[in-house]
Amino acid sequence: MASGMFRAATQQWSSRTLRARPAPRIMNYGSASLFGDLQCITKLLANELIAFWEPDQLGQIGSNPLKEPPTITKDSITVGGKTYKVDQATNVTTTILEKTTRQLFQIPTHPIAIIKDLIASTFPDFKHYQSFSPVVTTKQNFDDLCFAKDHPGRAATDTYYINEKIMLRTHTSAHQLQVLTEADKVLVTADVYRRDEIDASHYPVFHQMEGAELFDTKTAVDVIRKQIATDTAQHSKSIHTTDITVITDKNPKQDCHDQAAMLATADHLKYSLNKMVRNLFSHEKNLTVRWIDAQFPFTSPSWEMEILYKGKWLEVLGCGVIKQDILNNAGKPDKIGWAFGLGLERLALVLFGIPDIRLFWSQDERFLHQFEPSKIQKFKAFSKYPPCFKDITFWSNEDFHENNFCEVVRDVAGDIVEDVRMIDEFTHPKTKKCSVCYRINYRSMDRNVTNVEINEIQDRLREEVVRRMKVELR
Ligand code: PHE
Repeated sequence: MASGMFRAATQQWSSRTLRARPAPRIMNYGSASLFGDLQCITKLLANELIAFWEPDQLGQIGSNPLKEPPTITKDSITVGGKTYKVDQATNVTTTILEKTTRQLFQIPTHPIAIIKDLIASTFPDFKHYQSFSPVVTTKQNFDDLCFAKDHPGRAATDTYYINEKIMLRTHTSAHQLQVLTEADKVLVTADVYRRDEIDASHYPVFHQMEGAELFDTKTAVDVIRKQIATDTAQHSKSIHTTDITVITDKNPKQDCHDQAAMLATADHLKYSLNKMVRNLFSHEKNLTVRWIDAQFPFTSPSWEMEILYKGKWLEVLGCGVIKQDILNNAGKPDKIGWAFGLGLERLALVLFGIPDIRLFWSQDERFLHQFEPSKIQKFKAFSKYPPCFKDITFWSNEDFHENNFCEVVRDVAGDIVEDVRMIDEFTHPKTKKCSVCYRINYRSMDRNVTNVEINEIQDRLREEVVRRMKVELR
């Protein structure tokens, strides 16, 4: 499954899945009931129309704007208690926006929260931020993190835009600059959003945890070497680690960094993360971990950690030495530090033995009532329901992108779709038109689906695909 790591611009970065949801609540912008009795001051900015909440009053009634149902009108989108103008860049859908209210990582018995808590327990003195709105600026998500203007992660086919300058964060690193201005040891847990294809292990919303630690550049070497040497727990000793990474021009030290300080920071990063996985996989007697070189716009050098699990290498996290520009912008030019970002779903799927990523979003008690806080236990399957396959064939066009097609499927059919795959493609010899056929596997996780019900969905899908994608059905 997609770990959701932002790689170098040349590398493809991975995908996710979909589902059925109640009809979105469409409300007029500015509706008084939306804001209740709260005082709300609305201000028009260049690209966003923001409703400012008065913090005191929010506290009084204990309201959480992130729990407010999002609303979409033809002119604006309200999410997390704020309203934004839509424009030609808008591609976010109600199906996706509604996910912002779920906050799975805040439900103590949810596997995502259980993994989060276990990871956080390895970093007890870190300041943990868990209530950032998923709505961020393109500056926060990309520019502040040194993303090139043409980085593929910015593409409309990969990212959900509310408008040209406002988007749903695609990674927790979007908050790195802000949190590093406030503290030297930080964790951020949040839901992140990426447009993607549909298959059994990918979902357009997933959860990440970000961690970072800074050291005074002058004393980093001494402080770090002493800490590692005096760690009596020695967790990392019981891990088989392969580390063949080398600092080369392809994965370089930053010019501004002192070699010894950078190497100490890198060692502290790997030591801390080895300890973290050791804790998470405490039941695995022979945990095997490998470090490989990676590239991220906001760290250098950069690495990924993989774990050998049931004979396969599982990519767990991306990390590296933070780009000094970010620390300078955070007002910390005299510090050096590391950062990591990991996908919680991937770890939860493996540790709980959960067969389908859609289950994390299930409201079924048979799922939700299985787990206890702070405890990893194997998922007990409820029966697997039969699939129902439907094909759709159409002449595609120049603007066609599979992620856009999958977005329509998500919006029309929701979580009842287990996967979507292309089963045929050909170009007409004379007209040069390209025909594609997709097979959609409809399978609910918690009930039998009827052919009649699926036919209705498929008919709606056919209409919507034509309307939104301007393709011609065959
Ligand atoms: N934000 C990166 C991703 O989503 C992960 C990462 C975080 C890498 C911090 C390096 C440092 O892929």
